[in-house]
Amino acid sequence: MPFPTHRLRRLRRTEGLRRMVREHHLRVEHLIQPYFVIEGDRRVVPIASMPDQAQLSVDQLIEAVAHAIHNGIGAVLLFGIPDHKDEAGSQAYAEDGIIQRATRALKRHYPELVVITDLCLCEYTSHGHCGHVAHGEVRNDETLDLLVKGALAQAQAGADIIAPSDMMDGRIGRIRTALDAAGYSDVAIMAYAAKFASAFYGPFRDAAQSAPAFGDRRAYQMDPANGREALWEIALDDIEGADILMVKPALPYLDVLARARPLHPQPFAVYHVSGEYAMLKAAVERGWLDERRCVMESLLAMRRAGADLIITYYAVTVAAWLQE
Ligand code: PBG
Repeated sequence: MPFPTHRLRRLRRTEGLRRMVREHHLRVEHLIQPYFVIEGDRRVVPIASMPDQAQLSVDQLIEAVAHAIHNGIGAVLLFGIPDHKDEAGSQAYAEDGIIQRATRALKRHYPELVVITDLCLCEYTSHGHCGHVAHGEVRNDETLDLLVKGALAQAQAGADIIAPSDMMDGRIGRIRTALDAAGYSDVAIMAYAAKFASAFYGPFRDAAQSAPAFGDRRAYQMDPANGREALWEIALDDIEGADILMVKPALPYLDVLARARPLHPQPFAVYHVSGEYAMLKAAVERGWLDERRCVMESLLAMRRAGADLIITYYAVTVAAWLQE
């Protein structure tokens, strides 16, 4: 007889009881804060569709990260936005490219900080696609050569973790081999393993000025309808040598995370993307949602679904809340 013998409300009666049986927790070490880095000096350019987020020049990044570290943040994810974009995305792999310079500056100021660099061409190419374009198509194998150059430049600049977000086939294996051959066998790879062609990246593309000039990304990023294929993508990045596996976006794809998590030993990350952030901010601005409770609930749901790490524009804010 389940009821009245079993009464689940017994363990929910007081905070002391609830706390004791709580299954999942969100701690500051789970959080990664992304930053958009631009050229120049003393520049802070707010991003309209991402309230409280801005593009920062390197000197401003150093200050912002000081504040993040003060709040307990231990890891950051960098996106570079160069002044000069070209067909080949050459600033992605230039030794003095913006993301390389930002990485060097951060490692010089904060040697203990974990610096993760996003590796993709879309912020650097004049056409805004994530790879080499020929005859109106993004060419997979030619793009791999460019990604390898970018990975080596980022490793040389001191990145702890390189995070390829382009969704070309075979890039994790190629990057791993190239890093090892160049003496960077200690540099880790966080693979955007199951990255979907999502409309929730809209605000990011304003922030990174990386919207494709023609077409869209559906010929390389995943179809939102496919769950089994996501497991296949994740399995390949595991075999190719990824140290951390990522599912992106987060909330709409928690089923993918929950299915994949038990199949691999690696830590899993989720990316709470720009559109997810913008939705929360917009509703909060209107007074329709309680920001703190909705953010904490969202991030805790990601932990419950199996995320070890959460990349979120809310990282520093949440870190401050966790200290209260
Ligand atoms: C680059 C990249 C994108 C995001 C992270 N890396 C945009 C895209 O694929 O179009 C999106 C992140 C976000 O929306 O917060 N390829």
